[in-house]
Amino acid sequence: MKKSANPSPRSKAFAGQVSSGARELSVNPPRVAVAIMAAGKGTRLKSQLPKVLHEVGGKPLLAHVIAAATRVLPANDVFAIIGHEAGRVRAAVAQTGVNFVLQPDQRGTGHALMVARPALSAYDHVIVLSGDAPQITPQTIARLLNFHLDQQAAMTLLSADLDHPTGYGRIVRGNARKGASNAEVQAIVEEKSANPAQKKIHEINAGFYVFAVPQLFSNIEKLSTTNPHGEYYLTDMAEVLRKASQRVVVWKTENSDEVLGANTRTELSVIDHQLRMRKCQQLMEEGVTIFYPATCVIDNDVEIAPDTVIEPFVQILGRSRIGAACRIRSYSVIRDSEIGDGVLIRPGCILEEARIGPSAVLGPYSHLRPGSDIGEGAHVGNFVETKKIKLGKGSKANHLTYLGDAEIGAGVNIGAGTITCNYDGVAKHTTVIEDGVFIGSDSTLVAPVRVGKGAYVAAASCITDNVPEDALAVGRARQIVKAGWAREKRAASKLK
Ligand code: UD1
Ligand code: CA
Repeated sequence: MKKSANPSPRSKAFAGQVSSGARELSVNPPRVAVAIMAAGKGTRLKSQLPKVLHEVGGKPLLAHVIAAATRVLPANDVFAIIGHEAGRVRAAVAQTGVNFVLQPDQRGTGHALMVARPALSAYDHVIVLSGDAPQITPQTIARLLNFHLDQQAAMTLLSADLDHPTGYGRIVRGNARKGASNAEVQAIVEEKSANPAQKKIHEINAGFYVFAVPQLFSNIEKLSTTNPHGEYYLTDMAEVLRKASQRVVVWKTENSDEVLGANTRTELSVIDHQLRMRKCQQLMEEGVTIFYPATCVIDNDVEIAPDTVIEPFVQILGRSRIGAACRIRSYSVIRDSEIGDGVLIRPGCILEEARIGPSAVLGPYSHLRPGSDIGEGAHVGNFVETKKIKLGKGSKANHLTYLGDAEIGAGVNIGAGTITCNYDGVAKHTTVIEDGVFIGSDSTLVAPVRVGKGAYVAAASCITDNVPEDALAVGRARQIVKAGWAREKRAASKLK
């Protein structure tokens, strides 16, 4: 665990945004860090999986929050506070390059910041984000920071008005102090401690804050655990700092969706739906037709070009990229695949890590497993399974076929029921089928084997040896015909 870090010089990015006043010109730009609270178990989810690894929009809650944070500050200045199942959480987001702080026992959001003190003390300000609220935008984070710096506050919190505020901390504003501005906050009251009047407050604490680091850590020890959960509440810092005559202000976002936290399975599904509908809307604005978008599951990072049509009940997942003027028919599931322009995917296809050339036609019910590379204008049809193959331009495998570990050229016709026998029980072997080959129906090709350019394989052959170019291979028993055999059998059985 990294206990301290040198603030990145890129924090200076904020120098120009801080203020145009002459005052700032003479001082160094503030050093700003982000701390993401992600150590909690997520008891309300009733899950073996830690809360921040539950997925919405196709990726973990925490990955969304890190993505927003690292668009505001470099990953080097971002600290994820992890604890429950720390190893698992860390592994899931390690590739983002952020730092980790360990909170071995989770004694509340205030305690999370206490353990992060050594990591954060080299900074002037810290933006605190909740790892379970995935819709926060970089714009809102940046605005919150700039408001905090402009206000010269010790603590700035993000709020929103919610129609249904139950469960959230409520913002108690007030002008208790003489000369206090509208932005000033008296306290944050948690749901369990709120009196009936406070429960009626619709302005909630979003769980996103900016603190001036010296003021935060010179007062954080004043937090107590005298509350219904027996935890250190970070929210109590509002009152603690105000009592220490520090400035505590609130900035309200108009977009209340972005503050929603995922504490329960129901909240997860609401947020997932919002993210997916937003993704569909964005794609439709970019020229993609989506029929009945509420039935489609399209992950955040998917790209689709204009004039492609997505029919109901389609899933497009992971890092899939789909070209222009394709049609994806119902009940297809596409993951991490690349699809060219003008491709037709008929109903019920499953694609995983596949590449499909332009104008190819798939399905219905084709299963393309990792490493399937389908050429331009090729056809893969009903109940055909492919794995780690190259199917050349214009080649066809239309019915009931397994093609695995195969290099298939252009203009090849693979008859119904063809099987590449790629596995001998120990190792996988390759089948090579060169350009213009015709494989008759119900053939088995026992790899390693090569069928030369322009050759024919007779139907129902078992091919164990290479077939030379332009040859015909017949690998089956010769048919015998016994004249009158059936008639004699019937006659014999009548005699009994
Ligand atoms: C918190 C706020 C509440 C606010 C709401 C917004 C407190 C006391 N309350 O409530 O005012 O309206 O967020 O969503 O802060 N975590 C740790 N370590 C801990 C405890 C929690 O890292 O010891 C993390 C959790 O993993 C989670 C985040 O902090 O990502 C918030 O904790 P959670 O228990 O969800 O707080 P809420 O009850 O939602
Ligand atoms: Ca929460």
